Amino acid sequence: MKKKILMVSPECSPFSKVGGLSDMVASLSKQFAEDGCQVKVFTPLYSTIKRPKNMQKVMDNLSVHMGLGIEEYASVWKAPLGKAEAVFLEFNRYYDRPGIYNYHSVSYDDNGGRFSFMARASLEYCLATGWIPDVIHCHDWTTGLIPVYLNTTLRNTPLGRTATVFTIHNLQHQGVFDRGVLEYAGLPQSEFRADSCESYGALNMLKGALYNATKITTVSPTYSKEIQTPAYGCGLDHVLRFRAADLIGILNGIDTQDWNPAVDKRIPANYKVGSMEGKAVCKEALQKKVGLNRDAKAPLFGVVSRLYDQKGLDLLARIAKPLVDHMDIQLMILGNGEGWLEEAFRNLTGANPGRIASYIGFDNDLSHLVEAGSDFFIMPSRFEPCGLNQMYSMVYGTLPVVRRTGGLADTVEQYVQGSGRGTGFIFDDATADALYNTIGWACSTWFDRPKDITAMRLNAMTRDFSWKNSSRRYDQVYTWAIGTRSLGF
Ligand code: ADP
Ligand code: GLC
Repeated sequence: MKKKILMVSPECSPFSKVGGLSDMVASLSKQFAEDGCQVKVFTPLYSTIKRPKNMQKVMDNLSVHMGLGIEEYASVWKAPLGKAEAVFLEFNRYYDRPGIYNYHSVSYDDNGGRFSFMARASLEYCLATGWIPDVIHCHDWTTGLIPVYLNTTLRNTPLGRTATVFTIHNLQHQGVFDRGVLEYAGLPQSEFRADSCESYGALNMLKGALYNATKITTVSPTYSKEIQTPAYGCGLDHVLRFRAADLIGILNGIDTQDWNPAVDKRIPANYKVGSMEGKAVCKEALQKKVGLNRDAKAPLFGVVSRLYDQKGLDLLARIAKPLVDHMDIQLMILGNGEGWLEEAFRNLTGANPGRIASYIGFDNDLSHLVEAGSDFFIMPSRFEPCGLNQMYSMVYGTLPVVRRTGGLADTVEQYVQGSGRGTGFIFDDATADALYNTIGWACSTWFDRPKDITAMRLNAMTRDFSWKNSSRRYDQVYTWAIGTRSLGF
């Protein structure tokens, strides 16, 4: 049976993006649609979205019933997303903002309302159009109330039989709000209890999903185990252990059209296994663009990242100066996030011209050039549910230096010195020393064992990171969820 799938997500590439969630939702949806399923992705129409020419308005007055007798009217638009369809919710009071979740790193104080509205509206859209999906795939805390609605106020509607699959992309963000948001959402106050939406006296949207979703997934097998421990469980490890039998880790795939050095239009020269000359052209172009010395011999270490605690780049900031003082390497950091870290990389760039470069901001084109033009890619994450950049790097022949956690542990294969086996350099401790030593190991391999670098590049570039395998696993989870739901769970 070809399934009808509704994805609900606060981000969807190429329309709106803060991180990998956006890429994952778009590429998985396209893959399912390619395989013949009917797929819609429901997402807000932020005013910052550049509207494509083929975007059409499909509804003028979607009525959205919130609690306290509030009824709002929103418009709905659609645009193709490969063979899938993106469905946009236009409601300016909530989505006409400069940021998706925050402005200058300060969260909007009505995020509880903004995203419970998105959750509710996605369901009202299905009911109003009569398009009843077999499964609703919910992504992260902003969609957390969807499984709760389907188990409570909407249980006796045509959506009552629809299964929910909830994917945890990042357990750190849980959607914690005052309990008044539950009332605004129109959910019964009886859901404000420890085995549903309540946590430490507040509403916790993600917790509500963990108790109410038919099945739960997360984005790598290792992260699915880590989050069941207190060290990585962000206060919800007990809930994840409780639901362990319904929790499965599936590695993200990547969009192999968008991220492919053989056809990438955002880089100055294409390359592939067997004809790698273009990579040197990209390195030179990157050095020129960002103000690094034009030096083909110095290994260039790249970073593309949100600059938050999760990513461990404070460790890199601490050792960047000794690194370039003691090793003949270059560093290029593309990122934005916490102000103090942005400032630290700006200062490092100013003090080490030609050796350290940075661009503080979000720039998709530049991110492709950093992947293509770097020799190594640094991801010292404290935790990493999956991580896409290490996969993009490997596909671009750029060897990742990563901490052994989550999806990094599941996708990067450790170098075996002298053998040319492996696809990257892995360390265990989240310390500046461990990172320093591992960058040193990569650097010495570059200079002393260049044949191993060539072999590792080949290993990395020939790995299959497409959605082929993982979308099959999601399909199994959907089937499993639909079966379970049909029994009334
Ligand atoms: P996360 O979702 O935790 O940020 P991922 O590795 O899964 O981490 O995905 C990050 C995505 O965001 C990648 O597609 C990466 O290229 C992109 N990205 C992150 N920061 C920037 C930036 N400053 N400019 C351009 N792209 C960025
Ligand atoms: C989150 C995680 C990242 C993952 C992405 C897509 O943002 O931090 O590790 O790759 O979601 O699933």
